[in-house]
Amino acid sequence: MRTSVGIIGAGPAGLLLAHLLRQAGIENVVLENRTRDYVEHRQRAGVLEQNTVDVLRSSGAGERMDRLGLRHDGIELRFAREGHRVDFPSHTGGRSVMVYAQTEVVKDLIAISEQQGGTIRFEAEALAIEKADTGSPLIRYRHEGAEHTLECDIVVACDGFHGIGRQSMPQSLLRTWSHEYPFAWLGILADVPPSCDELIYANHERGFALHSMRSPQVSRLYLQVAPDEDLNAWPDDRIWAELDARFELPGWSLEHGPITEKGITPMRSFVAEPLRYGRLFLAGDAAHIVPPTGAKGLNLAAADATLLAAAIIQAHDKGDESLLDAYSETALRRVWRAEHFSYFMTTMLHRDPHADDFAHRLQLSNLRYIASSEAAAASLAENYVGLPVG
Ligand code: PHB
Repeated sequence: MRTSVGIIGAGPAGLLLAHLLRQAGIENVVLENRTRDYVEHRQRAGVLEQNTVDVLRSSGAGERMDRLGLRHDGIELRFAREGHRVDFPSHTGGRSVMVYAQTEVVKDLIAISEQQGGTIRFEAEALAIEKADTGSPLIRYRHEGAEHTLECDIVVACDGFHGIGRQSMPQSLLRTWSHEYPFAWLGILADVPPSCDELIYANHERGFALHSMRSPQVSRLYLQVAPDEDLNAWPDDRIWAELDARFELPGWSLEHGPITEKGITPMRSFVAEPLRYGRLFLAGDAAHIVPPTGAKGLNLAAADATLLAAAIIQAHDKGDESLLDAYSETALRRVWRAEHFSYFMTTMLHRDPHADDFAHRLQLSNLRYIASSEAAAASLAENYVGLPVG
């Protein structure tokens, strides 16, 4: 089989890139290791920054998001038994975010691909990327028990942290940076209306907690736990009691309801550089990971796909490769900003079991600064709604 752009991975980066290229008339094929059912149901992030909303909408993939997504104009920072709201539009020239699950974005993009005759091959395992340093790279993959070759002009690996994309780059070319955190998140979905209109990020002596949501009927909540936490140690009653304790605020209470899903989310920061070797490009988690506290992972994936789509379209239509040549540097500048913001939010809000009380006082001072200074609130707001792409 031959195509113009071979894409590995049907997560947000791969699917959005395929969609944007298809809108521009550029043929592409997506290879996905998992089943369609699996990728449509894995629980991931839930906040779309303004750029992500804009690209989905302008490319014709925003109809369901606009119908079911919840526009949020701020968040609450809760600490020392007080709540402080950070407003977004007034600090960012009118920008805001949309609460809409990543898994719904994935469903929407797969449905559009199906309607428009796009090619997504599920249960197709990419085995190797070859000839990346030539004008005709190829992907070897296994599908329905047989091995196949996909010949391309360009290969884009959107195959996640553990994918073959990054591993296929010459290791002597690659530089990586990573940071581990001494905690993880225990996340739940519950069939109960959210107890708040906007997300609550809580710093509490017992550890961080986050109240998010999926719809007016479904809440999404997270607790900081140990990195090696055993889910079996957390029966539902213990989860609700811990959430009650960490969100404690006079006059406010958390509604409880049936828990429908539970999982542990690891926390890691990681960046690989460069994002290109010859005709092979990396996008999304294949190239970088952020801890979820800044709600940036999905949005970085969408930004990579947006930049790369524009670059491939320019190369394809005009024979001008300047944007492709600039992709790695342009994308990484934004990635590092999001790495810093995610680290900043994470370290400000979590209890580091190894830190002293001095560190805790500094956290509280920083939270009070954001709660009382327009300049500090504006900095958080502009990073949260997302800085311009490119
Ligand atoms: C979520 O709704 O899953 C969510 C929201 C905000 C975050 C992380 C996750 O910072």
